[in-house]
Amino acid sequence: MLRIAVLVSGGGTNLQALLDAKARGEIPHGEFVRVIASRPDAYALTRAANAGIEGVVVSRKSFASQQAYDDALLDALRACRAQLVVLAGFLSILGPAVIAAYRDRILNIHPALIPSFCGKGYYGLRVHEAALARGVKVTGATVHLVNEIPDGGPILLQKAVEVQPGDTPETLQRRVMEQAEWVLLPRAVEQQCALWEDRLQNPEFKLQIV
Ligand code: GRF
Repeated sequence: MLRIAVLVSGGGTNLQALLDAKARGEIPHGEFVRVIASRPDAYALTRAANAGIEGVVVSRKSFASQQAYDDALLDALRACRAQLVVLAGFLSILGPAVIAAYRDRILNIHPALIPSFCGKGYYGLRVHEAALARGVKVTGATVHLVNEIPDGGPILLQKAVEVQPGDTPETLQRRVMEQAEWVLLPRAVEQQCALWEDRLQNPEFKLQIV
């Protein structure tokens, strides 16, 4: 099984979807070994504790530079020998050192159909505010690999969700989470774990534990 670290910042509903999927036997090729929160008050840490998974805080505010923050994240990933990294509502920026160390092994869930409503400044409710302002009739969620371009990495899975008359950013966010995010992220994590397990059979793909 691949060792998975989940990076969080807030309520952790996407983390909960991962943990529930694991409990249902839907992620046989991966095991969650650590939750890393960018804020000490992230309720995601409570969800991790309830599931018996170690939670640590690596707070962006505690570091003077992006490089120092990246180094601390790498230390936290190294300490649990993470092989796959999942950003689940993670709101801090990952610097080039982390992205390079986990090239093609970092997944992110974005609450829109990339390339719509993505990139710098598009996160959380702002994504749904922009979708409603534009008047789209369909939105959704995307799971993609993380590279140096914000929300710019290869798309893995997408799922469409209808915008309904009278939707507010909050009602739309909830529907996108329930109907798309919480469905796609576990599926993408299992797919990537199975893919890397297969690759690991080939000595050329020796995963470098950073
Ligand atoms: C939500 O806006 C979700 O759409 C996005 O991150 C935010 C918090 O997610 N992926 P979570 O409840 O912390 O997983």
